[in-house]
Amino acid sequence: MSFCPEPGLQEVVEAARGRNLFFSTEVEKHIAEADIVFVSVNTPTKTCGVGAGKAADLTYWEGAARMIAAVSKSSKIIVEKSTVPVKTAEAIEKVLKRNCSDPTVEFDILSNPEFLAEGTAISDLTCPDRVLIGGKDTERGRKAIDVLASVYAHWIPEERILKTNLWSAELSKLTANAMLAQRISSVNSISALCEATGADIQQVSNSIGTDSRIGPKFLNASVGFGGSCFQKDILNLVYICESVGLKDVAKYWESVVTMNDYQKQRFVERIISAMFNTIKKKKLAVYGFAFKKDTGDTRETPAIDVCRGLMADGAELCIYDPQVSEKQVRLDLATPKFEWDHPVSKASPVSDDESVAIVKDPMEAAKGAHAIVVLTEWDEFKTVDYQAVYDSMVKPAFIFDGRNILDHDALRAMGFIVYALGKPLDAFILNGPAA
Ligand code: UDX
Repeated sequence: MSFCPEPGLQEVVEAARGRNLFFSTEVEKHIAEADIVFVSVNTPTKTCGVGAGKAADLTYWEGAARMIAAVSKSSKIIVEKSTVPVKTAEAIEKVLKRNCSDPTVEFDILSNPEFLAEGTAISDLTCPDRVLIGGKDTERGRKAIDVLASVYAHWIPEERILKTNLWSAELSKLTANAMLAQRISSVNSISALCEATGADIQQVSNSIGTDSRIGPKFLNASVGFGGSCFQKDILNLVYICESVGLKDVAKYWESVVTMNDYQKQRFVERIISAMFNTIKKKKLAVYGFAFKKDTGDTRETPAIDVCRGLMADGAELCIYDPQVSEKQVRLDLATPKFEWDHPVSKASPVSDDESVAIVKDPMEAAKGAHAIVVLTEWDEFKTVDYQAVYDSMVKPAFIFDGRNILDHDALRAMGFIVYALGKPLDAFILNGPAA
């Protein structure tokens, strides 16, 4: 995976390294010495067996717990940082207890879910809306919560440190991500209705976002949400609901993912129908592949499904992303769903599909293309010389803005046929090429 550096991280590491931040590969030695162990291992979606495609795979968590138990000579607080299904702490406690040979060693398990988002991780850490710590409702449990809270209290006001029981903390993380994703899927569903009625999704989002009970965040219509958390966590929630017999609740949350898939598919279909129902052998320039701007992260990026959809109809793609490498794009286009989150055991399946080119310049991507397809909201796409781009393209020249970041009126004035998500449609797109 290629990532661009998290803003502010370098400075934090430089200031703390060698003082109170040390890196080491001697995992067992340091765990044996630690009072508090933060476990931040991956919890990918299972790809096979019971719960495949929904349930979280806890292999790495269990492995970490077994190792902690094996090397521990003193009592420790074990902090769950990874996003885990509800009740994971209970299972981990059993693994820890049964595998530690020293009967005097005790483990206190806390859930301390991480809410930071990529690109804003350092400011989310230094100035979080809240820190959540869940622990057992016993004297020991409360003491362990207080120990961890005292670490955060160095820079976070006490009223922002929320203390709950273990299960509430575990479930809060899944629910927070599910609720955020649900807002995007809700607004994306309305973007389709806007196109059918002539309403404008940005005006609708703005109108509802000014209701302080709803608020303005996470109401930007897009070609779909991506990233390593939202889909995984919702499917995990769905699986937990199914496991406890709550079928309707499971269906409700699953529909958030269904709506996300619908939005990607709908975008692909718009492109095909606008371009005379055929994109076969047509060059399409794809602007952006990362799941959001300011990162090279492509995990669950909507670009994967959109590009695959366009390739399935015979398009020739020329992809430009400021951060994502050619190798990563090809790997993503060839990797089956959910496989990306598992260590690659065999040679990586890198697509050498000739219908995809990856270039390092937006002008080059658009040269001789029939259309530009914007999939990530990178700021630099707003300042491309679109007149020069237009002049180098096949006519009619289309732009499909999957993030609503461009100046659509200016592009129309240059001669582009523009499709913007959830915006009133150009006559050409609404009535077909005859218009
Ligand atoms: C998310 C949560 O925000 C964070 O709290 C959690 O800890 C991890 O998951 P992240 O995946 O880094 O963080 O990205 P986020 O900024 O939440 O965006 C997720 C996706 O939603 C992106 O693809 C983004 O482009 C999309 N999005 C976001 C929209 O389509 N519309 C919006 O209004 C907001």
